[in-house]
Amino acid sequence: MTPAALAQTHAAAFTQTRPWSESEFTDLLKQRGMILCGDAKSFILGRIIGDEAEVLTVATHPNHQRQGYARAQLVQFISQARTQNVESVFLEVSENNGAAKSLYYKQGFHKFGHRPQYYYTADGGKIGADILRLEI
Ligand SMILES: CC(C)(COP(=O)(O)OP(=O)(O)OC[C@H]1O[C@@H](n2cnc3c(N)ncnc32)[C@H](O)[C@@H]1OP(=O)(O)O)[C@@H](O)C(=O)NCCC(=O)NCCS
Repeated sequence: MTPAALAQTHAAAFTQTRPWSESEFTDLLKQRGMILCGDAKSFILGRIIGDEAEVLTVATHPNHQRQGYARAQLVQFISQARTQNVESVFLEVSENNGAAKSLYYKQGFHKFGHRPQYYYTADGGKIGADILRLEI
């Protein structure tokens, strides 16, 4: 999947926060330990550092949401991480993102911490992030 396609899907999915640009994806994909699962319908991007994995972003194009794609990518991400001796997966999610939190909790993640006023919102305000963790 090209950085341009990633940026396109990301922009279509993230309507409340600033989408990531093609050049940001290009730079991220050059970093060590990156794992990318999925396609233009839905993808997950994360990285492995030692025995921990971090989910950086998950996006399903609005035309393809609620069809199990994000769950499938997350399952694949976790299973790839497992093969690389990862013990915990972490991620940050906006505290008001009920859809994403439901996706993660169903996969076994639990709340590990909270960062107040972490993300900027579309109206220029700020909102906190929950830190979730999954032991694998
Ligand atoms: C969150 C997101 C990735 C889910 O993608 P998806 O492919 O539609 O998700 P799935 O179809 O695999 O759904 C898996 C579970 O997630 C939850 N879920 C997904 N969309 C939901 C919604 N609109 N409302 C409530 N729960 C939702 C449900 O628990 C769902 O399980 P179910 O279908 O058995 O009820 C997608 O809505 C998206 O791209 N949102 C914008 C970007 C974003 O917020 N990314 C996460 C940032 S941390």
